[in-house]
Amino acid sequence: MASKKILITGAAGFIGHHLANKLRSEGHTVIGVDNFDHPCGAPAQCVHMDVRDPALKELIKDVDEVYHLAAQIHVDRSYEDPELTYDVNVGGTKNVLDACKEYNKTMLLASSVEVYGSAKTPAISEDHPLHPQSPYAESKRQAEELCKEYARKYGVKVKIMRSFNTYGPYQNSEIYGSVIPIFVRRILNGEPPVIFGSGIQTRDFMHISDALNAYELMITKGPIGEPTHFGTGSEISINELADVLINLIGKKMRPVYSAPRPDEVMRLRANITKAESLGFKPAMALEQGLKHYVEWFMKHRLGDSANVPSGLYLKE
Ligand SMILES: NC(=O)c1ccc[n+]([C@@H]2O[C@H](COP(=O)([O-])OP(=O)(O)OC[C@H]3O[C@@H](n4cnc5c(N)ncnc54)[C@H](O)[C@@H]3O)[C@@H](O)[C@H]2O)c1
Repeated sequence: MASKKILITGAAGFIGHHLANKLRSEGHTVIGVDNFDHPCGAPAQCVHMDVRDPALKELIKDVDEVYHLAAQIHVDRSYEDPELTYDVNVGGTKNVLDACKEYNKTMLLASSVEVYGSAKTPAISEDHPLHPQSPYAESKRQAEELCKEYARKYGVKVKIMRSFNTYGPYQNSEIYGSVIPIFVRRILNGEPPVIFGSGIQTRDFMHISDALNAYELMITKGPIGEPTHFGTGSEISINELADVLINLIGKKMRPVYSAPRPDEVMRLRANITKAESLGFKPAMALEQGLKHYVEWFMKHRLGDSANVPSGLYLKE
């Protein structure tokens, strides 16, 4: 494969840093951009720049393609600060689109399945109606609309990738983290996972290794100006997820329950027919991916083995 020059916004984040490492390992030159608002903690080679900064276009001018991942990604924070969420997620996307339009660059928008809202059908396909249920989800819908408009009106080669929940090493477990890292941290610390609402809400969790393959397929073969989504095609409830993690870590505890979140999406499972037509085939089974993740977490986020609670083991 010919070596390319690639710009990644959000390259200090969970997915961005994995993507940058993968592309560099394949021989490409990667320019990372991030304002370090929510970095994942992995070492990151990045230009410190806001995605809304007009100077971004000078960096985009010299690359072959752009993966646009920078975003305010947290649903809870989007209720606390909707202005910031729209400004970064919609305004930032416009800034990237304008530069890609001016310099005729291929671009990928990292959108989210949150745009669908709770599934009205057992599995969601790309033509499922959009019912964004949070400012975050609505900001992603608006960012997608901008991409469609730029593709239609100006011929910008923009690919719209909707990912289902992605997990793996370096996903943030602190405030504004995601469910798997937060549960793992709590269980390893001997604290029960906290479930908001009944726990019957389901998600389709995709391992980062599968997500990285999806990104590559999408930038090379993805259709222009229309969304394609990537997940595993399986769902698990948050109750089941908590049980799997408690068992995997080998603790004796039960989750505790808290008030439901406002407007939480209750069901998400991907119909991946369209992704499969591009060659996508998710390879990491959830339990295997969770086991790898817990092992990574114990090694890198709990410090050395002296900090691991005694009696802790991972069931095969
Ligand atoms: N992780 C998932 O499950 C998931 C699912 C669907 C879609 N996505 C999308 O994928 C992308 C990456 O997600 P992630 O999980 O790696 O999130 P993340 O929060 O780990 O990474 C986002 C990065 O963007 C940076 N950023 C935020 N505001 C910025 C700004 N104004 N200027 C420059 N950089 C800024 C943050 O500092 C962070 O490093 C996001 O667009 C997200 O919406 C993620």
